[in-house]
Amino acid sequence: MSPTPTLSDVFAQYDALLNRYRDFWQLEAFAQTEWPWPQSAVEVNALIEPELNKLTNPVATPSAKLERESPFWLTNGIQGRKLAQINGFIAEFSKHASCHAAEDPIHQVIEWCAGKGHLGRILSVHQQIPVLSVEWQASLCEQGQALAFQHSVAQEFLHANVMHLPNNWLPSNTAIVALHACGDLHRQLLLQASSQGKRELFIAPCCYHLQQAEHYQPLSQQAQQSLLRLSRAQLKLAVQEQVTGGKRVAKLRDTEQLWRLVFDLYRAQITGIAAYRSLPSVPKHWFSGELSAFIHWACAQQALPVPADVAINALLPEAYERLALIRGIDSVRQLFRRPLELWLLLDRALFLQEQNYAVHLQQFCAHHESPRNTLIIAKRDAQAAYSET
Ligand SMILES: C[S@@+](CC[C@H](N)C(=O)[O-])C[C@H]1O[C@@H](n2cnc3c(N)ncnc32)[C@H](O)[C@@H]1O
Repeated sequence: MSPTPTLSDVFAQYDALLNRYRDFWQLEAFAQTEWPWPQSAVEVNALIEPELNKLTNPVATPSAKLERESPFWLTNGIQGRKLAQINGFIAEFSKHASCHAAEDPIHQVIEWCAGKGHLGRILSVHQQIPVLSVEWQASLCEQGQALAFQHSVAQEFLHANVMHLPNNWLPSNTAIVALHACGDLHRQLLLQASSQGKRELFIAPCCYHLQQAEHYQPLSQQAQQSLLRLSRAQLKLAVQEQVTGGKRVAKLRDTEQLWRLVFDLYRAQITGIAAYRSLPSVPKHWFSGELSAFIHWACAQQALPVPADVAINALLPEAYERLALIRGIDSVRQLFRRPLELWLLLDRALFLQEQNYAVHLQQFCAHHESPRNTLIIAKRDAQAAYSET
């Protein structure tokens, strides 16, 4: 029997695949005006699929459900999918956290980027443990604190920017939970967690591309050796699959892509510059309005004269063709979405191992409840922490 691969072995598998096929996923689909590869989408699929099947999945699937019912007053106002995520998260927390260990237990939970602190509130009641919820938006802190008072929950809020907490701020004998903290926010937690002390981490990362740096800075030594260089736009691929939102959201996204293409065709025509030039993002409600209003706004962004409606409409057939091309390219890029997400998760896991944590990757809710459904569970005891000195 071959030995179970380590997280480092698994990282090496994903790193090799992503490097070998980078021409298939590191390009920007929107910027392409023709099919970029000698192979068709079906041929690329046939080439990659067997390779994907050989990769080890490092994420454990949930075993028997261990969810405790919450009284209705505790979960009031939390929408269905969020509640399913919280319940799954707490089920894993109660399996792994040592809040009630006879020796050297965890005696406080810190909720990182808490929002209204729904996770922290329910966790505090289920585990009978005090929770400190850290959140940047004052109004969310106030609402969360009011809910905690109302139900006599041992939960306090700290109104703070996690990016500006002092180094070594995290106390020892603490469990830190982070549900869907974006790029730099969970990265900051990882860096804070490398300071000494007994800690247990439960981190469900999301939106890896929401970071200040233009390029990804790998955390672990192994990822630092990788040949992959990831721009912010490339990082976005890791979360570019939406199961939430339904048909209305999908339709708005289609309209948005089509209108952006119409504008890009007009821009190329009038400036004579073929290279794609991106526009800032705008709220989705724009795309249930009028195409001409969007074009007016886009022209103002790039200081271009506004075309007549008839000229805009004449570009629609070509924009539809480009949209079909982009869909085809995206279907190939999507093959690499999960490998890229796992590469990023494994970078975090390896970094924590380097900081003397024992690390485990665990799925905590179904994919339709959230596609960002992997929990990094990392535990370090006091001895391991002090052995660093
Ligand atoms: C995606 S939400 C997740 C909220 C909650 N954990 C949940 O799962 O519903 C991210 C939260 O991080 C907060 N946040 C953003 N930047 C922050 C910062 N620099 N410091 C603290 N909180 C921050 C936001 O206000 C928001 O409430």
